Amino acid sequence: MPGIKGPSDYSQEPPRHPSLQINSKVPFNAEPPRSALASSYVTPVDLFYKRNHGPIPLVDDIDRYCVDICGLIRTPKKLYMRDVRMLPKYNVTATLQCAGNRRTAMSKTQKVRGVGWDVSAIGNAVWGGAKLADVLELIGIPKLTCSTQSGGKHVEFVSIDKCKEENGGPYKASIPLSQATNPEADVLLAYEMNEEPLNRDHGYPLRVIVPGVIGARSVKWLDSINIIAEECQGFFMQKDYKMFPPSVDWDNINWSTRRPQMDFPVQSVICSLEDVQSIKPGKVTISGYAVSGGGRGIERVDISIDGGKTWLEASRSQKTGAPYIADHVSSDKWAWVLFEVTVDIPYSTEIVAKAVDSAANVQPENVQDIWNLRGILNTSWHRVQVRVGHSNM
Ligand code: MTE
Repeated sequence: MPGIKGPSDYSQEPPRHPSLQINSKVPFNAEPPRSALASSYVTPVDLFYKRNHGPIPLVDDIDRYCVDICGLIRTPKKLYMRDVRMLPKYNVTATLQCAGNRRTAMSKTQKVRGVGWDVSAIGNAVWGGAKLADVLELIGIPKLTCSTQSGGKHVEFVSIDKCKEENGGPYKASIPLSQATNPEADVLLAYEMNEEPLNRDHGYPLRVIVPGVIGARSVKWLDSINIIAEECQGFFMQKDYKMFPPSVDWDNINWSTRRPQMDFPVQSVICSLEDVQSIKPGKVTISGYAVSGGGRGIERVDISIDGGKTWLEASRSQKTGAPYIADHVSSDKWAWVLFEVTVDIPYSTEIVAKAVDSAANVQPENVQDIWNLRGILNTSWHRVQVRVGHSNM
């Protein structure tokens, strides 16, 4: 594709923030310290987790860069940045979460395959760009279309990066056409993150943002968009990012028996305390994030300071100055809420967080019950141990 290329080695990677915890150097996968996450509703770009499957692409001529729109449509189109910028611009505040968030903790019960992540493979950003529904209208697909006349039912996004899992081919994923053409689903072709042009790590010059869905479907460095009859057959849709029951192992797995994961379930994490934390006796503020997929709000965040025997409710917030009400027009439906509660901790104990979303879905108690061989969607109650000491703290 003119204007952009996907390198085959890692000699031209962009600079990164020194405080990121690197989980894999090549491809680059890193997350911020958990304490950084709960301190701001919108995650700074530098501290936003970075999840890659190959070397970071390079743009050499932005004027020549374009996205090929093809497949089951009458007239294929080349979409240049100027075409995207001509469409109405939307700013959508949305939380992106990798399905592998909290994988390291799942691996402790029983080993799983995949890059290990602590609790920070998640971030909340203001994504600026055009709605995919408006882009598809340019090629003659009206809003709220489930199927085109020529049988197109899915929209596939293909990147330019070179991924080992695709035998050196590009990363790709798809979403249903009904979601892509629904303006309310807020699927974006984004060129901005937190009011700045996207940086290379996050998909410069153009990426997809699919709010409420695992991060794997938000394809970066977009190269083409295909209107197709069946969902994308790429590795990351068909051989990864699927949820299996705990009984499935690498000897009996049959990938085709499960659908690709899309929405993510309700999640919450304590960010103000490490897994094992020493504190002084007295008042402690417990804070963190809670989020659910599919645009569901957070109805409640429960905190226990006795390992789950009794619970108290934490306060929830998004933007400062406005009260948060789950699923209300005033709240950012695709974004996390930050929670906080101050408690008195006189003795060493286990602190637990669990959230309830607006459909009354609750996090599962134990990681064992949701263990799966790829280690995705660890949304079990988040537990931290506090050791209360009386001197030298
Ligand atoms: N897009 C491309 N082209 N290549 C990738 O490796 N990783 C996906 C998704 N889009 C990926 C991609 C995954 S698994 C996640 S979780 C998000 O991008 C991470 O986005 P971020 O690095 O901007 O946080």
